[in-house]
Amino acid sequence: MASDELIQERDGEYRHGKAVMVRGVRMPHVYAYLTGFAEFIENFTTKNDDVFIVGFPRSGTTWLQEVIWQIFNDGEISRHPIGHRVQFFDEAKFPHTTQPDITTRASPRLMKTHQPFHAIPKGTSENSRCKYIYVARNPFNVVVSYYNFDLKMAPVTDYDGPFEYFADMFIKGTTYWGSWTEHVLGWWKHKDDDNVLFLKYEDMKKDLPSQIRLICKFLGKNITEDMVDRIAQQCTFDAMKNNSSAYWMMTRDGELPNFLRKGQIGGWKDYFTPELIQRFEKEVLGKLDGSGLQFDLGR
Ligand code: A3P
Repeated sequence: MASDELIQERDGEYRHGKAVMVRGVRMPHVYAYLTGFAEFIENFTTKNDDVFIVGFPRSGTTWLQEVIWQIFNDGEISRHPIGHRVQFFDEAKFPHTTQPDITTRASPRLMKTHQPFHAIPKGTSENSRCKYIYVARNPFNVVVSYYNFDLKMAPVTDYDGPFEYFADMFIKGTTYWGSWTEHVLGWWKHKDDDNVLFLKYEDMKKDLPSQIRLICKFLGKNITEDMVDRIAQQCTFDAMKNNSSAYWMMTRDGELPNFLRKGQIGGWKDYFTPELIQRFEKEVLGKLDGSGLQFDLGR
């Protein structure tokens, strides 16, 4: 069908995996090509206790998955992989998935997705009004993190070019899941909806306990201050790096992935020329002007 059309095999000079456009969203073809993801998402029925953890790739979604799973599970540290505990919605029709079927999963269903606001399933009645927790991260760190991920995490993405070229694709919105600015602005417009919580990676990094309290308030969960501290400590970068069930396993050679790479605000400058910084300021950050959305760039 047209929505599963293969749109990209190479991006100009360099390989960047294959992409398909599914309901207006540019996705890796292994997730969606000929597997009916378009129909799946169109027919997906939300429930009022569903929680979608949402973000553009490399914005801190895995971190948020672990935090939220622990909130729901009294601070337990699980040995089960995060992808089984909080399923990746966008992989629901992945041909070789080892995940259980999301549709029949017991409630409350915690799901992670990179879908933009316009494409995500929405409830239409009181019984299907699910919640969305969105995390946004400054685009300089996102693009550096995404580049390193795409470079190393074949076969899903399989990018083989230099950073400058990847940054150009990011600016044009041709990396998977499309334009970063459209993604964050699409969700930012709904930040005051009563079923949307909009968080920033940088706030989580600076003060995780306060963000855990915000999440609990939004979810209507009462947890003690001791539990807030415990979850914050168990979800630091180092703690999660030492717990392989807290991140994703998918690598070129089967070795442990760089999924948790540096986990910092800033540290992107080594990758940027002064010209690229100017371009990013104008063509990426500039598009946020007037929206009120701002980021700590760590510089
Ligand atoms: P870096 O590549 O900059 O290290 P996502 O899960 O949305 O793909 O985001 C991945 C990014 O979040 C990676 O960024 C990863 O290291 C970072 N991250 C994951 N867990 C983290 C944590 N506990 N603290 C800080 N950053 C974390």
